[in-house]
Amino acid sequence: MVKLYKAPKLSLPPSLFGSEVGSFSELTVTQRMPAIARRVIVENNFSSEINTRLERLATELPTGYLQPLTNDTGVDFPAWDTYLKAYKGQRWIDVPWFFAETYFYRSILEITDYFRPGIWQGVDPFQLQKSHGLEGSIDSATLLSNQVNKWLEDSEIDVQLNQKALIALLYFALWGNRVDLSLWSAFEDDRSRFDIQNQLAHILVNDASQISELLTISEADRVDFVLDNAGFELVCDLCLVDFLLSSNLVNQVYLHLKPHPTFVSDAMIKDVHETTSFLATTSDQQMIFFAQRLETHIASGRLVLSEDYFWTSPLAFWEIPSSLKDELTNASLVIVKGDANYRRLLGDRHWDITASFADIVCYLPAPIVALRTLKSEVAVGLKSEVIKKVANSDHSWLTNGQWGVIQFVA
Ligand code: F6P
Ligand code: MG
Repeated sequence: MVKLYKAPKLSLPPSLFGSEVGSFSELTVTQRMPAIARRVIVENNFSSEINTRLERLATELPTGYLQPLTNDTGVDFPAWDTYLKAYKGQRWIDVPWFFAETYFYRSILEITDYFRPGIWQGVDPFQLQKSHGLEGSIDSATLLSNQVNKWLEDSEIDVQLNQKALIALLYFALWGNRVDLSLWSAFEDDRSRFDIQNQLAHILVNDASQISELLTISEADRVDFVLDNAGFELVCDLCLVDFLLSSNLVNQVYLHLKPHPTFVSDAMIKDVHETTSFLATTSDQQMIFFAQRLETHIASGRLVLSEDYFWTSPLAFWEIPSSLKDELTNASLVIVKGDANYRRLLGDRHWDITASFADIVCYLPAPIVALRTLKSEVAVGLKSEVIKKVANSDHSWLTNGQWGVIQFVA
């Protein structure tokens, strides 16, 4: 029997910090996060008091200090009050980068009165970005959902066909994690969207065939997705979900979603509903069938939408609450999407890039696969020769989202 650890088997290296000169974390805390706060001002109609506070937050990030969270009636307020104790009086750049980012997004919600009863309650400060991302990707989404329908028509015919479809859908779920609107920039024209060779050349670790075998041969019962972004990425993920359920390869799928807006585009339960409603009102009949199937899966309880404040917390994945860990125990496979979730899996630390992924995520109670395009300087499980090759061909390979991994731990 495989031993389950409480934390990574390997000793923990230091966290990433915004104070690391020349790092992507420094760029994020000192430039990208202020720009995001200012975009919230521009893209919403918040009051001038709120906008003044957002501007103050933006100004403070590069050299200023964390401010305490005021009790805004959010159910996670007591938890944040506790998390913050360790970093009282510190500068944004001096606290672990993952903490700085998660607290930054929570602070935006406090400033914009997201939880407080009143006119701004429940207003998603990133809604414009999310809607734009979804609407702008409709052509890609239509092509993909049409392809899923074709695969489903043939899915009863043979295992090999299912495996081929699953592998392609895993690739789409992976590349959906690239920045939405520039998703296919490397792949020129429409036809090349389905060009598997192009996709393959940019996958640095590819365990897709192990996943497709697990899902087709070893009778998986339930698959859990720890989701990432709304928009085209969510459509790609939902295509995979639909294929798994509609072909009866699995009985149930759980989607783990964020309980509040965060990291700009991260998906919440309402984003799944908004996405299916939007797809159901398009003019493409195949797309409408796809949206209707998703709605039927939700209504029948085969597709479960769940949220938990752990997913918006600053905690490492191995600090997962036992109730949620017990939930994941029921999964035949946990699919972890995206860069920030990958960083959480690794505790956002300076691991050796060749360290074993399995020796770090050995604390999870089920087989897992990470589908992640590289958008931060955190990575493990890569071979030295692969690193050498990619680093020679692309200097910003760790952060530009052009490279991906499909990393499986049984
Ligand atoms: O581009 C970097 C970044 O903003 C990181 O801060 C974060 O890890 C990531 O992007 C979010 O990307 P994803 O949506 O893939 O989690
Ligand atoms: Mg995200």
